[in-house]
Amino acid sequence: MEPKPLDATPVHDVAVVLGTRPEAVKLAPVVRAMRRSPRFRPTVVTTGQHREMLDRILPQLELEPDVRLDVMRERQSLHALSSRLHAALGEVLGSAAFDAAVVQGDTTTALCGAIAAFYQRIPVAHVEAGLRSGVQGDPFPEEVNRRMVAQVSTWHFAPTVPAGVNLLREGVPQDGIEVTGNTVVDNLLWVVDQGLGRSAFDTSRGGRRVLVTLHRRENQGAVMSGLAEAVLRLVRERDVQVVLPLHRSPAVREALLPVLSQDPRIRTTEPLDYLDFTATLADADLVLTDSGGVQEEAPSLDVPVLVLRRTTERMEVVRAGGAELVGTDPQVVLARALALLDDRDAHARMARAVSPFGDGRAAGRILDRLDRDLSAGAARPPAHLPVPVPGAALGTPAPAAAQGALVEAAR
Ligand code: UD1
Ligand code: UDP
Repeated sequence: MEPKPLDATPVHDVAVVLGTRPEAVKLAPVVRAMRRSPRFRPTVVTTGQHREMLDRILPQLELEPDVRLDVMRERQSLHALSSRLHAALGEVLGSAAFDAAVVQGDTTTALCGAIAAFYQRIPVAHVEAGLRSGVQGDPFPEEVNRRMVAQVSTWHFAPTVPAGVNLLREGVPQDGIEVTGNTVVDNLLWVVDQGLGRSAFDTSRGGRRVLVTLHRRENQGAVMSGLAEAVLRLVRERDVQVVLPLHRSPAVREALLPVLSQDPRIRTTEPLDYLDFTATLADADLVLTDSGGVQEEAPSLDVPVLVLRRTTERMEVVRAGGAELVGTDPQVVLARALALLDDRDAHARMARAVSPFGDGRAAGRILDRLDRDLSAGAARPPAHLPVPVPGAALGTPAPAAAQGALVEAAR
């Protein structure tokens, strides 16, 4: 890293750490904005927690890494992954005088990146902070990962007011919370500008189009096979074509393929390039998914979503009417999918729901806040750790004054 000139306006050296497909999607707008800005000198570190799935989409997102680690091993345990990440990230973050480190979301890369930065006394900025299901093992291990990231973060960039309120309720100091919108919308708008890719649906064929993605660890095994059975029954009961881009995880393929390969109306593919995936999503009549990012992208493209999970940390989209939390019982999933495909009015109501995930200017807000604090020398590891508000479990009202101030600040 070049030494900083002494008399110039401050340039902030920021490490941006990412390792999986959703982190790449959601940090791409932040990195692109930093690379355009004269105030930031980002170093993009990809851990390689995902290998093929990340390599496929990095060029499309204009996200060439500066440092490429290669921690992925087939079927590795969370322990093995974490220990490789800690060792490798400790070295990278210790190799230069970073002013801040940015992590996103709740993956093992995000958690280890945040801890590695903290150990190097680098202040941590957490993008997409404050999402909470309130259930320790659902999603597993992400609900606990993101809570631990909050403990070592200086800046908490919450995508929505409810996410910011979750942080307040946990006692995160209000001046560390910034409600920005979700960077996934920034990215989607950018992609729409570039021109979407090619839909994976068979456009020569009629029938309703259903896009399915499944990968969550807590769904793997019998639950995921049961969900595949629901998809199989769907194509047998209605004139429907299904596209399901398979996650690279062997556990996902073992659960899905024996069931899904029984019917040619179900097209399983390798993970799609981002541009092709968004084109396929835009082309779908309905999405069935346990993905976080897909839950957020679909309402921006006016596609109704059935969330195949027991909980969601994205209740905003359910409340807005764009998604329904249907759980993982195959009978219920099938019934709800059939109901939506058959009832055009209900379908249109869901498709019309307004996305609660922001206006596509989240990255700009993140950069503004970082620039302000880093220029003022205000970024230190937080002197005060979060102090939980007594009795403030999820679902109880947040302190009214604080909630009001946050809503005001988010305007
Ligand atoms: C991870 C995140 C999850 C996120 C998901 C996005 C954790 C604990 N989980 O889950 O929050 O929703 O990414 O997709 O961080 N594999 C490959 N090639 C790839 C990617 C994965 O072969 O490009 C295989 C490997 O065998 C790997 C396994 O998939 O061991 C699981 O990958 P891992 O990153 O541990 O977890 P995900 O289930 O992908
Ligand atoms: N995605 C993609 N190709 C695919 C499936 C998904 O590019 O074949 C993108 C999708 O647009 C979204 C992100 O991957 O932005 C979601 O990743 P994933 O579902 O793996 O993780 P999650 O969001 O659940 O953490």
